[in-house]
Amino acid sequence: MIEHNPPPANRPFALSVAALALASRTRPVLWYAQRKAGFMNHPKTVWKPGTLLAPVPVVLVSCGRPGARPNLITVAWVGTVCSEPPMVSISIRPERHSHDIIRDTGEFVVNLPGADQAWAVDWCGVVSGRDTDKFAGAKLTPAPAHRLQGAPIVAECPLALECRVRQTLAPGSHTVFVAEVVSVQVESALERPGGRFALEQSGLLSYAHGHYYVLGRQVGHFGFSVRKKPAGKGGAGQAGRSAPPPAGGRIRG
Ligand SMILES: Cc1cc2nc3c(=O)[nH]c(=O)nc-3n(C[C@H](O)[C@H](O)[C@H](O)COP(=O)(O)O)c2cc1C
Repeated sequence: MIEHNPPPANRPFALSVAALALASRTRPVLWYAQRKAGFMNHPKTVWKPGTLLAPVPVVLVSCGRPGARPNLITVAWVGTVCSEPPMVSISIRPERHSHDIIRDTGEFVVNLPGADQAWAVDWCGVVSGRDTDKFAGAKLTPAPAHRLQGAPIVAECPLALECRVRQTLAPGSHTVFVAEVVSVQVESALERPGGRFALEQSGLLSYAHGHYYVLGRQVGHFGFSVRKKPAGKGGAGQAGRSAPPPAGGRIRG
């Protein structure tokens, strides 16, 4: 005769299965409720697609053919592309005077302006070098680049990235020049021990939706969200999250 003995009940296992089933049923509900609350607290309107990325750096790009008058163009469509090799991109409309200079010479300098150069940044973005000497008009000094033939750096800017074009893309309204940074010149007064560069002290300019800003209050540093709490300051030297921002996600000043 075969006896059918039921296996002994595994209560902890049964309970955890039940908890899991309940959680998997309630989680979507919780998730939906949280999302719903988020939408209600932060209502949104749908706009047509656009490049509203902000803030962005705004830079003075210098360029020039060897032996000819150099030019300056204000560029906000500038970005970091790659760390090794160091590469950046600038997007220039084909109708700009600078466009053909950069296309033909394959070189340019990305000069990061400080607050002192705000006027020059705006002015170099509204007049063309076709009929104007922008260095003279903006009272800026062209200084020799270290690795380029025709493009000078802007002496007054705290940081200059000398670039050689490696790729040219034509996605639409702008030509994208993807370039390798072949040399960097930094303002000696902003150099700090340990190879650090106190760029933040130069009052770097940025651009957001038609307005210029100077780099503002620091609210953190790389990795601060997961930094080790110093022992004796509410922590025991363990790695872990620092306090998340208060409700609403805003860091108040
Ligand atoms: C804040 C600002 C940002 C600009 N960004 C760009 C840009 O990213 N690409 C571009 O082609 N033109 C940009 N422009 C417009 C050019 O700087 C402007 O047309 C300039 O007069 C061209 O000079 P050029 O003809 O001497 O090359 C910008 C202008 C301003 C004021």
